[in-house]
Parts: sequence; C-alpha cells; structure tokens
Amino acid sequence: MIVKCPQALSDLREWLDLRSQLSGSVGFVPTMGALHQGHRELIERARQENKWVVVSIFVNPTQFDREEDLKNYPVTWDTDLKLLSEVGIDYVLRPKAPSLYPDGYAYKVTENVFSAKLCGAHRPGHFDGVLTVVLKLLNLVKADRAYFGEKDYQQLQLVQAMTQALFIPTTIVPCPTVREPDGLALSSRNQRLSPSQRELAPQLYHWLNRKDLTCHQVTEKLVDAGFQVEYVEEMMGRRFAAAWLGSVRLIDNVEI
Ligand code: PAF
Repeated sequence: MIVKCPQALSDLREWLDLRSQLSGSVGFVPTMGALHQGHRELIERARQENKWVVVSIFVNPTQFDREEDLKNYPVTWDTDLKLLSEVGIDYVLRPKAPSLYPDGYAYKVTENVFSAKLCGAHRPGHFDGVLTVVLKLLNLVKADRAYFGEKDYQQLQLVQAMTQALFIPTTIVPCPTVREPDGLALSSRNQRLSPSQRELAPQLYHWLNRKDLTCHQVTEKLVDAGFQVEYVEEMMGRRFAAAWLGSVRLIDNVEI
C-alpha cells in the first residue's frame, strides 16, 4: 500500500505521474477519515469491481458551515491506516488543504436547485464545499468508478448529477447505508455520542420508518425523545431527517 500525503501542488503532480502508469480499472472511495464499517464496505465493493483501489482521506474545511464542527471532527489516522491495510487497498491519498486549494477556494462548484433543500437549507455553503472537493478529487484520481454511501443521499444525488452535468467520465456507484444492529446508520460522527446519546440515537431511524406517521408527527416523537430536529421531509420517494443530540448532528433517510 502506498501512502501519499501531498503537501503542495508539486506533490500532487507526482501522484498524477503515478496514476498515469496504472493500467486496469481504478475504484475510488473519497472519505474524511475516522473510517468505520460503512467505509469498509465501500472499499470492499471497490476492491471487488476494480484492479486498483484508491482511498482519499481529507477533512475538507470548505464543507463545514460551523468552525466548531470542523474543530471537533474526529481524526483517527492510525486506526484508519490499519483498516485500510486490512482491506488491502493500493493507494491512500491524504492531501493537505493548500495542495487541493491552490486558488484559496476562489473557484467553486454551485448547484442551485436541489442543494438548497434538506441539509443545504440548514448548512449554507455545505454542498458547494462538497461538490468542489469531489470534483477536484475526481479530476485528480481519474477513477473509473467512485463509491458513495446512501446515508448521505442528497450528497450522492448531487455528485451523480454533477458528473453528468460536467461530463466527468467516472461512474458514481451508490452503496446501501450500513447500520448498527439497533438501526443507527454508521457515521464518523457517532464516535462523539455520549453513552446516553448513543442509546437514544437509533430512535432517529425507528421513527423515520414509521410510515403511518406524518413528517410532523415524526418530528414530535423525536423532540419528545430528546432530539433537536432540523428537518423531517419527504421527497423523491424517500423520507429524510437531520437532528441533533447535544453537539452531534445525525442524518438518515429511508425509502417510503
Ligand atoms: O461523505 C464524505 O465523507 C465527504 O462529504 C466527502 C464525499 C469525502 C467529501 O469531502
């Protein structure tokens, strides 16, 4: 396994040289680290479907709308590396911000329709940051396939539509949400839940699945349970929710 930590643009060029020497299909899993079983399943799928597997680990500052959230985002490099070598990937790209943003984020990708809804309505600039960094990574990695989880359903849809709108040749592969046995969707943020919050957290999935209740009723149930609810909404044949337990923001979605 080769680990590349480009600090500057020149290091990224080194990566591009390396990439141009690879023949056979490349599968790419972009992450922000703090890897868990959900990431493992994305990587295993990439492993099954491609000759080479590239994983990026980059806590992307431009997609955080709150300074505090960025500061508290879990960083677990040693255990991440252990998981990656267990699964058996080929390249880890762990760029530093100046190498990915030589323009200082003067250029960005904005989607004006769907990104204004759901999470986008509550996190100004979030999807600009996501789409911009994903575009940069897709341009660098030049993967045949890139793997995204359905837990971040809105992100997945926006990335898929961006690749079509901007003629990016990478195929975006949607992968099902991975859950704990009690239903909680796996997320790097779960690590920050206290034991009592962790006990409450699966109720988000539980109430979202109660299709006999309206979104308003689901919101009430979640508030009663102790969540601070950002939204519960239905669109595109799915029900989506975002809710806070203390300082931890959880999202989930189910088919309806
Ligand atoms: O889903 C994530 O972890 C991030 O939003 C992504 C796609 C790696 C972009 O920073």
